[in-house]
Amino acid sequence: MKRRSLLLSILSIFLLLPYVNFAGSHEDGEKHEHTALEDEMDAMNKAWRKVRRQVADPSKNEDTVKLVMSMVKHAEASVELTPMRVEEVADADRDKWLKGYQKAMKENVKLLEQLAAALKKDNNEKASALVAKINDARKEGHKKYKPQDD
Ligand code: HEM
Repeated sequence: MKRRSLLLSILSIFLLLPYVNFAGSHEDGEKHEHTALEDEMDAMNKAWRKVRRQVADPSKNEDTVKLVMSMVKHAEASVELTPMRVEEVADADRDKWLKGYQKAMKENVKLLEQLAAALKKDNNEKASALVAKINDARKEGHKKYKPQDD
């Protein structure tokens, strides 16, 4: 009986170890729990890397559309979330700041939808131009709304 509960304890330590040690660990070594927005962004980024690699290749259009539509889903979810940088904003300015964030993220959704439409029409030239535009919007959004030490 004792032996069995000891075995169970050891087993549960091993099962929990990944969560205890690595949850929220960051690229820069800083440790914090991931925000819901970071999770959406990470998911969007995974698809984005592939989209950028293959956007000019018409033989990949079907797959690229699927990736872009998954980005739309994550961008739409991001509209509803609050960036952690809101803590740096004075109470009186928060409403305006959050509205600016939501507007920029909705614009991101719109551009991604345009990108999917261009790919569906096999217009890879337009799609490539939209990728450049979305990348600029990404940089701009990060400059304004993402913590700068990140
Ligand atoms: C193609 C578009 C985009 C990609 C691929 C992307 C990717 C990322 C990535 C990889 C992170 C870091 C996540 C982490 O640290 O785990 C991030 C964070 C963030 N991004 Fe984006 N992003 C995009 C567009 C945008 C736009 C348009 C905005 C603003 C309107 C935005 C706002 C933010 C914010 C606020 C954070 C910090 C997360 C937080 O506050 O919790 N991103 N993004």
